[in-house]
Amino acid sequence: MKDTYILAIESSCDETSMSIVKNGHVEISTVTLSQMDIHKQYGGVVPEIASRNHIENITMVLDECLESAKMTMDDIDYIGVTYGPGLVGSLLVGIQCAKTLAFLYNKPLIPVHHIAGHIYANRLVGEFKFPLMALVVSGGHTDLIIMKEDYRFEYIGGTLDDAIGEAYDKVARVMDLPYPGGPRIDKLAKIGKHTYNLPTPKNDNSYDFSFSGIKSAVINLAHNEKQRGNELNKEDLACSFQETVVNILSKKTMKAIKEYNLKQLIVAGGVAANSGLRESLTKLCEEQNIELLIPPINYCTDNATMIGCAAYYAQKDGKIADLKLNAKAVEKLN
Ligand code: KG4
Ligand code: ZN
Repeated sequence: MKDTYILAIESSCDETSMSIVKNGHVEISTVTLSQMDIHKQYGGVVPEIASRNHIENITMVLDECLESAKMTMDDIDYIGVTYGPGLVGSLLVGIQCAKTLAFLYNKPLIPVHHIAGHIYANRLVGEFKFPLMALVVSGGHTDLIIMKEDYRFEYIGGTLDDAIGEAYDKVARVMDLPYPGGPRIDKLAKIGKHTYNLPTPKNDNSYDFSFSGIKSAVINLAHNEKQRGNELNKEDLACSFQETVVNILSKKTMKAIKEYNLKQLIVAGGVAANSGLRESLTKLCEEQNIELLIPPINYCTDNATMIGCAAYYAQKDGKIADLKLNAKAVEKLN
């Protein structure tokens, strides 16, 4: 069978990324320019600045991506692009680039949902064995999704308020840690002890999560300690927070796998880089004989390789866009 090469573009937040992916799981080349150092000084991503930087970077990223693959546009079969959810101004830069390339070189355009991208990053490490559970843990999502076949997503539960990555970033801010807070808390948690007693959020039989309560508990604790003139032990607070949220995520995920009799667990999104979560799920899956896929750390956060993987399966599912493709700030995964 002829190989399929997809040029994929991801620009939904503050990474300008392009990748060439073969047959939905082989990375040929990826170039990612992160704007993290620019946004760090503001304590979070500033949408207007992100869009402007995407515009400045995108042609350079395209040239480098093709060059390092030693390919030209003639070798490309499809253009895949993230169309949402994300920052509209940022998404539009990637979409405009994708549409221009599709028009100029007469290539079909594949619209990719950002979360489908995170899920399909797991194809870089192994085959999917259906029915499977996808645990999506990112800056904007905390979802439990069952997949019975490729590119079919059945939502069974998720956060009712803050996403897990958002909670990490907000807790980090209270602890005066620089943006993005998730990786900082993870690092501190490894050297701390679980000494702070934080409430386990939504510790019930449902498959829903809630992270705003534990976030507020950390904020209150930090204020109270400050008022009493006590120094916060950041390592211990990070460890206490991380263990509490990792436990509830792991517990509900494993319960759902058992109840729905699923064969495999795949973990997706920026928080899949978290060492505590990786460790906990690895241990539980080993004990319960469930196959586990987690992307390598570099492919957990936003990148175009995952979009190239997902685009292959989106295209097989008949998802082809025309040149009217628009950005969606909010979009259901379907
Ligand atoms: O998936 P992602 O790159 O962007 C979205 O699509 O939202 O996820 C970004 C989120 C941020 O909240 C960041 O703090 C978090 O992932 N994150 C982590 C870790 N690495 C990134 N959270 C906890 N531990 C980590 N090691
Ligand atoms: Zn993402």
